[in-house]
Formats: sequence, C-alpha cells, structure tokens
Amino acid sequence: MNPMNRLAAVVSLAAVLPFGSQAAESQGAVEVVHYWTSGGEAKSVDVLKKIIEKDGFVWRDGAVAGGGGAAAMTVLKTRAVSGNPPSAAQIKGPDIQEWGRLGLLTSIDEVAKANDWDNLLPRQVSDSMKYDGHYVAVPVNIHRINWLWLNPQVLKKAGVTELPTTLEQLYAAGDKLKAAGFIAIAHGGQAWQDTTIFENLLLSIMGADGFRKSFIDMDPATLTGAQMTAVFSALRRLQAYLDPDGSGQDWNLETAKVINGKAGMQIMGDWAKSEWTAAGKTAGSDYACVPFPGSQGAYSYTVDSLAMFKPSSNNDTPANTAARNDLARVALEPEFQYVFNQNKGSIPVIKGLDMSRFDSCAQASAKDFATAEQAGTLAPSMAFNMSTSQAVQGAVFDVVTQFMNDRNADPSQEGARLLAAIKATQ
Ligand code: BGC
Repeated sequence: MNPMNRLAAVVSLAAVLPFGSQAAESQGAVEVVHYWTSGGEAKSVDVLKKIIEKDGFVWRDGAVAGGGGAAAMTVLKTRAVSGNPPSAAQIKGPDIQEWGRLGLLTSIDEVAKANDWDNLLPRQVSDSMKYDGHYVAVPVNIHRINWLWLNPQVLKKAGVTELPTTLEQLYAAGDKLKAAGFIAIAHGGQAWQDTTIFENLLLSIMGADGFRKSFIDMDPATLTGAQMTAVFSALRRLQAYLDPDGSGQDWNLETAKVINGKAGMQIMGDWAKSEWTAAGKTAGSDYACVPFPGSQGAYSYTVDSLAMFKPSSNNDTPANTAARNDLARVALEPEFQYVFNQNKGSIPVIKGLDMSRFDSCAQASAKDFATAEQAGTLAPSMAFNMSTSQAVQGAVFDVVTQFMNDRNADPSQEGARLLAAIKATQ
C-alpha cells in the first residue's frame, strides 16, 4: 500500500472515532502547520501571524522543524488520523489533490470569489489550488529551485574570477575553492538536499523537456536513457565538492557557512536567500545568485500554499471560520505578498506587483519565470512536491541517497533502479 492509501485507511477509521482537542472559543483562531523554522523563514511567517493578530484573531503556530517538510507531513497525517486537523497546513502540488480526495479539505470559494483569485493568479497555479473545482488552498509564493548561491569574497580569495554558467565551470570553481582551503559547496547530506542537486543536474543536462518526461510522465525510456547515466555521473563528480562535514546537516546551517565565508557556494532553492536577508546581507554585493549552471532558460519551481482543513466538531465555530477566511484573504493581499516574499526569498504569486521593491535576485527570478512561461520551460519540482505523489518522490529520494552513499554504484545502472523504484509505488 502506498503511504497515501495507508493514510486513507486510517483516516476512514478515525472518522468513526472523532475527537477534537481545543474547546470552542469566542475569539476566532487559526492553527497553521508549517515548517518555516530557520531564522529567515520564521521572520517570514511572523509577517502573517502579525496581520492575523492585528485583524483580531488568535494565531496558533504549528511549526514542525525539518527542511523540505517531511517531518511536518508526518505530524499532519497523525493529526488528521486522530480527527484533530489544524485549520491550515503547508501542502503543495498533487498532494493537495490527495488530501482533497480523502475528504479532509474545505472550500474557500467564498473568499476566492470575493477577491477575484481566478484573475489574480496564473492559471497553472489556480488550477492546482482547486479540488473538484473548488478552491481548497491559497498559494503564498513562487520559489525557484534551480539556483546557485555564491559568496563573491570567497570566490575572489580562491581565484575564481567568473560566476559559473556551465557544469565544467562549476567543477573548475570547486577545484579552486578546495585548493584554497574552502568548502567548495555547502551541503547538508539529507535525502531532500541530495535530491535537490540531482534534480538540478537533471534540468541542466536534460532541459525542461527531459525534466517533465522524467518527473511528470515518468517515461521509462527517459528514466533509463543515456542522459540519465550522464546525470548520475555528474552527481558523482559534484559529490567531490560537497561539504565533507555536511552529513545530516540542516540546509540553513550550510547556508551560514557560505554567509560566514567558510564555503564558496550552495545549490538550494531561494529560501536560502531568507538567511542572507536575515543576516543583513545584500544581493548583488554581499552575495550572488545565478541559475544553476547549464539550466539557464529553464525555471524549476515550487509554490508554497496553505490548504484549509475541515474543522473538527469542537473547532467548527463561526469565529474560527472567520479567522480561516481572514487567513485565506490576507495571503493574497499585495502588502502581505511584498513583505512576506521579501523575507522568504521567493517571488509573489499574484500578477502585476512592482518588482522594483525586490532585490536583484528576486527581480531576475520574476523575469526568468515570465520568459520560461512563454517558452514552455517551466519545470514543476519533483523534490519539492510539485510533480509527483509523495510516494514517487520518496522512491526517488531513496535511489539518490543510496547512490550518494555507495561510492561503487554504477551510474549506468541507476536509471533502471529509478524506474523500478517508481513502478513499485504504483
Ligand atoms: C518549501 C520552502 C521551505 C523549504 C525549506 C520547501 O519545500 O517550499 O518554503 O523554505 O522547503 O524547508
């Protein structure tokens, strides 16, 4: 049974034995399960909390530490199973549909209609926020995944004179950084971080088309082809540049190594920028961002969104509904979009905002998003829940992690493993 089916079985059992934890209260409250716990992320979510409180509601913080959100999803499943869901949770992409199918999400059409979400959001995004034609989630941002973050002072000390735009240049920069005694690429050895690198290499080597064939169509010929061997070979090569002390490290502690000048680069989605911003650093001078080498022109992304849960009977009060609707409304208000995304490192999800209020990395991101949208080179991230079920994602994580841990593994065999692992989930 795949994890979601298992969950479905337990949830239907829980429906027979419901219990809620919080007594109804007169002041409406929202509880939001999320995993924004690094310094920069916490500052970002605080923006939302403050607005909700200013609007007269109680904010209950359901933060669960753990980059990429796997731990938060486990907590969420346990809560749903015990009939005690939060008001909202950070759920993305196809998972929204899975939770919708389980009958656990509630419609926020009323708020969406009143605020014209259909016209405010890119079609691709609004579609994925709906289950069965009804809005059940609100998006807050667009995060780009195919980024490389660099500390120019460190590069200079190591004699790297140009920002890498090809994989060969990336390896060459890595060699110089290592020779000068720096960590070349700050990286935490966790499955989702390893897979971030794998996914970026795949985009670089196969392009957006190959990316979609791999992670949306799960096309056997693409998964087992010669280019996939090239991706795994590149992963092996890149591994030589990763932080030797990175085993199990959180992503933000690795970002700190680039900020503090111990490391030269990091391959990470643009939430990494939230740490630079929180440290008072300026894009374009203190740090640089370039598209992951070789993936210029393509744009892999994830959309953070808050899915709204049907309240347990104890929490089902008009005041709590008002609080939930306020959360949904505020999330797409321009002022929130500006301040939240400036802190979070992402770009606004609503159309037509003034990007001159953002730093140079965010401006580049917005421009590249628009170009990729036109060119058909947007790539919904697999590592960040935009293209597959959690079960498929988990299968890819396992293959990538095993490959990274087994120095003798043969890159030419990995495509077949990937295909087998994905098939086993279906
Ligand atoms: C989320 C980001 C978050 C990052 C690190 C990603 O899955 O989309 O919002 O900052 O994980 O936890």
